[in-house]
Amino acid sequence: MTEPVGLARGLTNYGDPDFARYLRRSFARSMGYSTEMLARPVIGIADTSSGFNNCHRNFPELIDAVKRGVLAAGGLPLVFPTISLGEVFLNPTSLMFRNLMAIDTEEMIRAQPMDAVVLVGGCDKTVPAQLMGAVSANRPAIGLVAGPMLTSRWQGERLGACTDCRRFWAKYRAGEVNSAEIDEIEGNLATTAGTCAVMGTASTMASLAEALGMILPGSAAIPAVHADRLRAAEATGRAAMRLAASKLTPDRIVTPQSIENALRVLMAIGGSTNAVLHLTAIAGRAGVDIDLNRLNEISDSTPVLVDLKPTGPHYMEDLFAAGGIGAVLRELTPLLNLDCMTVAGETLGERLATPAGPGDRRVDREVIRPLAEPLQPVGGLVALFGSLAPKGAIFKRSAADPSLFEKEGRAVVFTSLEDLSARIDDPALDVTPDDFMVLQNAGPLSPSGMPEAGYLPIPAKLARAGVKDMVRISDARMSGTAYGSIVLHVTPDSASGGPLAKVRNGDRIRLSVNERRIDLLVPPEKLARRKTAPAPMPERGYARLYRREILQADRGCDFDFLRKHPLGDGRA
Ligand code: FES
Repeated sequence: MTEPVGLARGLTNYGDPDFARYLRRSFARSMGYSTEMLARPVIGIADTSSGFNNCHRNFPELIDAVKRGVLAAGGLPLVFPTISLGEVFLNPTSLMFRNLMAIDTEEMIRAQPMDAVVLVGGCDKTVPAQLMGAVSANRPAIGLVAGPMLTSRWQGERLGACTDCRRFWAKYRAGEVNSAEIDEIEGNLATTAGTCAVMGTASTMASLAEALGMILPGSAAIPAVHADRLRAAEATGRAAMRLAASKLTPDRIVTPQSIENALRVLMAIGGSTNAVLHLTAIAGRAGVDIDLNRLNEISDSTPVLVDLKPTGPHYMEDLFAAGGIGAVLRELTPLLNLDCMTVAGETLGERLATPAGPGDRRVDREVIRPLAEPLQPVGGLVALFGSLAPKGAIFKRSAADPSLFEKEGRAVVFTSLEDLSARIDDPALDVTPDDFMVLQNAGPLSPSGMPEAGYLPIPAKLARAGVKDMVRISDARMSGTAYGSIVLHVTPDSASGGPLAKVRNGDRIRLSVNERRIDLLVPPEKLARRKTAPAPMPERGYARLYRREILQADRGCDFDFLRKHPLGDGRA
C-alpha cells in the first residue's frame, strides 16, 4: 500500500478514516483553497516570528519567499507557529526553553500532515531546537536561517551586536565611556533585522547547519536584509519539494560523519562555546555521542581560518562578502567527510566541486585564510578535564589571553548569581588580577538554568586599574559574542554536588591549557568533609519537568527521554 501524501497523511482519529478525510477536506476548503491545491504535497513551514524576538522580524517576507518557492514547485505551503526564543527576552535564560521548543517542533511536525518541513529560525536557541526536533521527528526537513544583522556606526566606529555591546559595557564600567555615550551606543548596536552580527552562537549554529547539510549551500551568512536572503528562501521552498519527493530524511544527513564535519567547521570559524552543547544535543537525537576527547583531537588538527569578532576585527557581513561558509568548507576539504548527504540532494563533495551560490564566488583572504596560512594553527575550543571537572569543561583558547594558559591561582568564590552581583564591585572584595574567580550554582541543574553568566565581569576596582582579563571558572555558559580566559560548562555542575560546589575561598586551582587540565588542589579527604546542598525541586510545570530530566553539559543539556538512546545515567 502506498503511503498517503499531503493532507491525507496522519488522519485525526474518529474511528472512521473516510469520515476523517471528508472532515479534513471540508475544513481545509473553508480556508478558501481549491480542491486542486488541497491535493498537492504539503510543505509545512515552522514560523518562529514573535513580538519577543527582534532577530526574527524579517520572517514575514522570508516566509512569503519560501511559499513562493513551494508553490512554484507544485506544492501547498502551510505555515504553522511554534515557540520562539528571543535570546534577551527570556527569564531565567533561553537555554532552559530550548528543549521545550524542540518538543514543540518535533510534535507539530509529526502530528500535522506535511510531506516535508521548512524550519525558519535564527536566534541562538531556535536553530538548535529546530534541528533537534526535526532529527527526532525524522520527516524530510530543511532549515532556513534569519541571516545576520548589518553593522551600524557610532563616532566613526563600526558597531555590531554583541561583541561591541560587551566591549563598550566594559569601557563604561571602567569609566572610559560616560552615561550619555553608552545611551547613544545602546541605540546603535542592533539596528536591522537578523541575528547578532558577529560569530556568536546564532552565526555559529547557522554555519554548523550548513556544514551538517541541513540548510542550502551558501545560505548561512547572507545578511538578513540582503535580497539574496529572499532568493535563498525561495530556493529553500523548492528544495523542500524535492526533499518531499525523494523522502530524504534527517537521519541520512545528521550522521557521525556530518557531525565531525560540523565540529571541524566550529573550530575553523572560531565559533561559540555554546555550539558544543547544541551540537551534542542534536547528535544525541541521532543516537551519536560527542566525545570531548575527540573534540580535542579535532581541535588540534583544525586551524582557525575565519577572522571574525569576538576574536578578530570582522563581522558576518564581511564573511558573506568574503565567500561565506562555502569558502571555509572548500579550504577544509582535505579534512572533511565528503560523502555526507545534504538537503540539496547532493553530497558535500559534489557541492564543493562547483561554486554553488552567492556566498561561494569570492574569497577575501583577510577574512577567510587559506588552510596553508591559517590565522591560528589549531582550533578555537578545547575541552579540559581534571579534579575540578571530571566530565569536562570548555575553554575558548582563541578568545583568551595566552599568558594565563598555564597558571595556578587562589579561588575567589561567588556562590550564586545573586552573590556575584552583590559583591563583584564591592571595594572591599579581596581579589587581585592573579586570582581565579569561581562562580557556583549557574549550571544546568541550578534554578538559573545555565545562563550566559560565565563571562564574570572584571571587578570594578580592577577594571579601573586597567585589568582586561582574569581566569574565570563556572558551570555556566558564555555568550558566543564574549571573550576572555574563561572556563565554562564545568561538569558535573555544582547544583548536582560536583567538585565545583566544594570550592572555597582561598583554595588553589591549577589551569593548564597545554595539558587540557583544570584541577582543584585540595586533598580528596578534605573535600569529602565539605557539604553541598542539592538544588530544590520546583513544585510544578515545565520547571519541574526540566529539573527532573535535564542532562549535564556533556550530554548537551538535552532531556534524557528525548535522546535517541536514553542513557539513564545522565545525571551522574
Ligand atoms: Fe538573537 Fe543575538 S540576540 S542572535
